[in-house]
Amino acid sequence: MSRIVYVNGAYVPEEEAKVSVFDRGFLFADGVYEVTSVLEGRLLDFEGHMRRLRRSLAELDMAAPASDEELLEIHRELVRRNGVEEGLVYLQVTRGAADRDFVYPAGVAPTLVMFTQEKQIVESPAAERGIRVISIPDERWGRRDIKTVQLLYPSMGKMMAKAAGADDAWMVEEGFVTEGTSNNAYIVKGGRIITRHLGNEILHGITRAAVLRLAREAQMEVEERPFTIEEAQGADEAFITSATTFVQPVVAIDDVEIGGGRPGPIARRLREIYVEEARRNAV
Ligand code: PDD
Repeated sequence: MSRIVYVNGAYVPEEEAKVSVFDRGFLFADGVYEVTSVLEGRLLDFEGHMRRLRRSLAELDMAAPASDEELLEIHRELVRRNGVEEGLVYLQVTRGAADRDFVYPAGVAPTLVMFTQEKQIVESPAAERGIRVISIPDERWGRRDIKTVQLLYPSMGKMMAKAAGADDAWMVEEGFVTEGTSNNAYIVKGGRIITRHLGNEILHGITRAAVLRLAREAQMEVEERPFTIEEAQGADEAFITSATTFVQPVVAIDDVEIGGGRPGPIARRLREIYVEEARRNAV
């Protein structure tokens, strides 16, 4: 069955969903996006995703395509029309279609595209067994705090991981881990959760913010600072977070096993409390 997709004000079957070849998202990767998870037909951390979308748009002087209330309505309508119980809603805003020119065009309406994808996210074999990551140099641009659609390097990183028989890659810059190809990276040592501090070098994960808040509420110690691959390999546990993976244990880094190659108790506990809280606050 074909999905119903949202394109610039219209709900259309996916085969009919079209944007211009002059769209700056296509020509310049001049666009930003958000991925919001859906559980029991409701949206997780919706407010956080909308807040970050506003920030990404503002950083690029890009017009907002709709209000948060309108965007919530469209998210809900897409979930309803496609009967999604579990999965995600993808949202992309671009600067719109204009003659090709490096200078931002004036007076152009932004393009707004949204679609759903069904996916099992709570019951996860990867969360049960943990994932294996490799380290690769971080060769992305410098404004990773803006959630742009230029995802080629992360995509190359996933392919490097796949070629090495691993699940994902952690990127390293100036000797320190920045983040995973599409997730934030953490280690645990002596009960203390360590993750890189916020800055332009990483995406400010919405799941990261929620997980750190919940960890602190549960009296766990959190340290926001850079760490190296060597430190991570000597840690008690490691894990990643993102909207669609929640908290997922990492059991090996460059083939060095962490915590005996099995998911650790802190990652497991954080996953439980995150899912519980996200479910409770879903809209
Ligand atoms: N990726 N870092 C990067 C580079 C990411 O692409 C993502 C999200 C995250 C985690 O952010 P959040 O917790 O807000 O999902 C960190 C999304 C899920 C994706 O591109 O599919």
